[in-house]
Amino acid sequence: MSDWKQSLHKTRYVMDVLLLIGFMLVSAPQATGLPGHEWLSVLFIVPFAVHLLLHWDWIKQSAKRFTQHISAKERFSLVWNYLLYVMMLLATVSGFLVSVALLPTLNIELHIQDFWSKIHHDSATLIMPIIGVHLALHWRWIVNLTKRMRMKGAKV
Ligand code: HEM
Ligand code: HEM
Repeated sequence: MSDWKQSLHKTRYVMDVLLLIGFMLVSAPQATGLPGHEWLSVLFIVPFAVHLLLHWDWIKQSAKRFTQHISAKERFSLVWNYLLYVMMLLATVSGFLVSVALLPTLNIELHIQDFWSKIHHDSATLIMPIIGVHLALHWRWIVNLTKRMRMKGAKV
């Protein structure tokens, strides 16, 4: 594999590990406390945006791919990634709308509505199995990369 492709895979791998750790922290407000949860969720936007940027080519082509003749697995993956994106957006936006620490610290007062609490709870709960399937769809890549990253000096 050419050098730039090899380092792109390594970069994606390291960033995916950070993203997963970040996601696990963000998904456990009981462990981090609500203020910790809110600040970590804001920080989490960074590895999430990097993840999307590292797949920018895929994103740019995704709408066109949808109309092309592709395998059922690829089509499923397309729809799934869009679903994942919508859920992340819902969880993040609703998170801000139920903020009890971050926005008040910034002197922004909000009247918290039950509707947004429910959306936040439901979207955050749904994201977990959706990410589980997202990872399962890339399982072979994850196993291969993990093996190769552990072999010192090996080509990825
Ligand atoms: C905990 C969160 C996530 C983890 C651990 C994760 C992990 C992965 C892995 C392992 C891959 C394949 C390897 C690679 O090329 O990097 C991948 C691909 C991809 N992910 Fe994620 N991902 C996460 C969240 C998301 C979210 C929220 C989106 C939003 C749309 C997303 C969109 C994509 C896209 C577009 C690709 C490339 C296309 C594909 O092959 O499906 N990921 N992700
Ligand atoms: C990807 C982003 C996020 C995920 C996955 C996430 C996940 C969660 C989870 C799992 C809960 C517990 C829900 C429950 O048991 O009812 C929760 C609660 C909470 N989250 Fe988030 N969250 C995210 C973003 C945010 C953001 C950006 C904020 C605010 C800046 C925030 C503020 C809160 C608050 C105030 C609660 C407790 C109140 C409530 O559930 O209505 N979250 N979040």
